[in-house]
Amino acid sequence: MTITATPPAGITNDITNDITNDITNSTVHLLPQTRQLRALHTIIRDRNCDLERFVTTSGRIIRQLVETALDLLPFEPSGVQTPVGQTYHGLRPAKPICGVPVVRAGESMEHELRAMSPGVRIGKILIQRDKVTKLPRLYYSALPADIDRHSVLLLDPMLATGGTALAAIEVLLAHGVAEDDIVFVTLLSAPEGIDAVHARHPNLRIVTSAIEERLNENAYMIPGIGDFGDRYFGTDVPR
Ligand code: PRP
Ligand code: URA
Repeated sequence: MTITATPPAGITNDITNDITNDITNSTVHLLPQTRQLRALHTIIRDRNCDLERFVTTSGRIIRQLVETALDLLPFEPSGVQTPVGQTYHGLRPAKPICGVPVVRAGESMEHELRAMSPGVRIGKILIQRDKVTKLPRLYYSALPADIDRHSVLLLDPMLATGGTALAAIEVLLAHGVAEDDIVFVTLLSAPEGIDAVHARHPNLRIVTSAIEERLNENAYMIPGIGDFGDRYFGTDVPR
């Protein structure tokens, strides 16, 4: 078990602990389950959280996810001269980075990635989950022609059945991106989705801030967050 999920003393994260004990794949990088992260999740999971608070708070979690994902990418040595005339022996990314949001909900993560790294390249994949069958349908993709030379952050805040993630990964592979160059970044994940991705791509890295208990009969995660896209863009039923 190599998941980095250590609840701080005094915090019992029943769901996370139960699930992580079952998931023995070192390719799942669960954010440290700090009190602060739990507090942010408490805000956005509240059905009464308003649109503005949902956007700003989910954005704070997404930034943590992106920082963690960036740290998984390859680096190479890079020295710089400091203002006091010394060399700082640092690092820089070994490959250019491309963010690929799955439209629509993934654009919430694109927004944060671009704010953190304004020069980052962006590709788009439009996949929608059928409302009845829950199966993904690919409508469109627009990716940099040389995306196969990039490290790719595949961005989608929800990993439920895994159908959408698998369809998006296939698009990237078909464009020549190596599996090792993909990190899937997601805010909430279901064990079913993680298993589905790893059944086909055992080494594909997943960064997530929470692993849920399971899916319900409508393929929504529980305890979950509802429909992320609807809540982030304000298209859910007004209360
Ligand atoms: C949601 C979510 C994921 C997908 C996850 O998208 O953003 O893309 O469902 O579900 P899965 O793992 O079972 O495939 P949806 O198709 O509802 O579109 P949206 O982004 O417009 O909300
Ligand atoms: N998509 C969402 O937005 N939420 C879920 O729980 C599952 C899929």
